Amino acid sequence: MSERVIPLVDQRIASLAAPVPAQPIVADGLLSDALGRPLSDLRISVTDRCNFRCNYCMPKEVFDKDYPYLPHGALLSFEEITRTAKLFVAHGVRKIRLTGGEPLLRKNIEVLIEQLAALRTPDGQPLDLTLTTNGSLLARKAKSLKAAGLKRVTVSLDGLDDAVFRAMNDVDFPVADVLEGIEAARAAGLGSGEPGHSLKINMVVKRGTNEHEILRMARHFRGTGIVLRFIEYMDVGATNGWRMDEVLPSADVVKMIRAELPLVQLDPSVPGETAERWGYADARGRHDPALGEIGVISSVTQAFCRDCNRARLSTEGKLYLCLFAGQGYDLRALIRGGASDEDIASAIGAIWQGRSDRYSELRSTLTPDTGPATRRVEMSYIGG
Ligand code: GTP
Ligand code: 5AD
Ligand code: SF4
Ligand code: SF4
Repeated sequence: MSERVIPLVDQRIASLAAPVPAQPIVADGLLSDALGRPLSDLRISVTDRCNFRCNYCMPKEVFDKDYPYLPHGALLSFEEITRTAKLFVAHGVRKIRLTGGEPLLRKNIEVLIEQLAALRTPDGQPLDLTLTTNGSLLARKAKSLKAAGLKRVTVSLDGLDDAVFRAMNDVDFPVADVLEGIEAARAAGLGSGEPGHSLKINMVVKRGTNEHEILRMARHFRGTGIVLRFIEYMDVGATNGWRMDEVLPSADVVKMIRAELPLVQLDPSVPGETAERWGYADARGRHDPALGEIGVISSVTQAFCRDCNRARLSTEGKLYLCLFAGQGYDLRALIRGGASDEDIASAIGAIWQGRSDRYSELRSTLTPDTGPATRRVEMSYIGG
């Protein structure tokens, strides 16, 4: 048997040019990709650093003190981010999510939030402006984030048992501090409670690591107005040593909760949603809004690429068309090269029109040699 050689290429360096098309593409909010999917969700990574080392995302052995994080000058500035975001909004984006790494580690993040909160959609509406955080700095920052114009937050929390949580974040961070952060976010009003706009908790489920926390988490957040979502452990990046047998299918999660707490399936709150919604039921088997709902995000067992309306802007300004993409389009080169707004908007339009990515749907048919499997970017760089 011959050994396969896996090239060690820094995928952040390999990038695609973002050419300005000869025919301008006017940002009229009607953009659709090669599979007919609109562009309505932009996820912006504001730092590739994090103070946690979750094994499924930034394993300690890889992200050690010698890891080459991006230098400050490589990062898009707040002005560059806002200028780019405005062009995406003109193309139809209605939701912006700030991610990382850990976005609250970016200095003066409130200033960026203020700038993004001032943007309006072509029909004059404010954006659905949100942020994904590990919660470690929330107790300190919830009020200032709200004051800056952030609408809601999603907090990652993989368990309530302190020992399990400390082991999963791998930096011995206590769960009580994250729970305090969640409470501060709730008290600050980061989440409206309307369907799709609540304060949310994301729990990545890894079989053999935290599945015994599922019911405990469900009971803890039931009836609080906070929406708990269970995420199937995914094969993102190239460092987490993903194995299918560590994935607990969402169907099993629902079955497990249902056995103790009755659930009914709910309709999607917005098109192209990642999560399938399940509401807690009353004694008559009907959804009781006071008890709230959970979500399951099943990228592995039930791909949701068909309606994927999400674009990702990396920390250094590359446009990625899929979470599993091998390469991004270098918008920063255009921005720093003096391109006009019209040119950048045209380039974004042309790139989106050419998009046919649907990795999760194809996952089972790809082999390490044919798929992007050996050349993916890390989630901490591209943002969840
Ligand atoms: P809401 O607007 O609050 O519903 O957010 P969302 O579900 O769009 O975003 P969130 O960042 O909370 O997504 C939760 C998790 O779903 C992420 O951390 C990823 O693990 C996964 N996820 C989000 N978007 C995608 C996607 O486009 N593809 C895949 N495969 N997984 C995704
Ligand atoms: N599988 C699923 N979700 C992941 N995240 C990071 N890595 C993975 C993975 N391998 C998600 C978690 C976390 C967010 C920042 O990214 O939901 O909350
Ligand atoms: Fe940090 Fe979130 Fe990745 Fe964990 S999942 S290492 S908290 S960015
Ligand atoms: Fe979208 Fe790619 Fe995720 Fe499919 S795998 S839902 S195309 S980001």
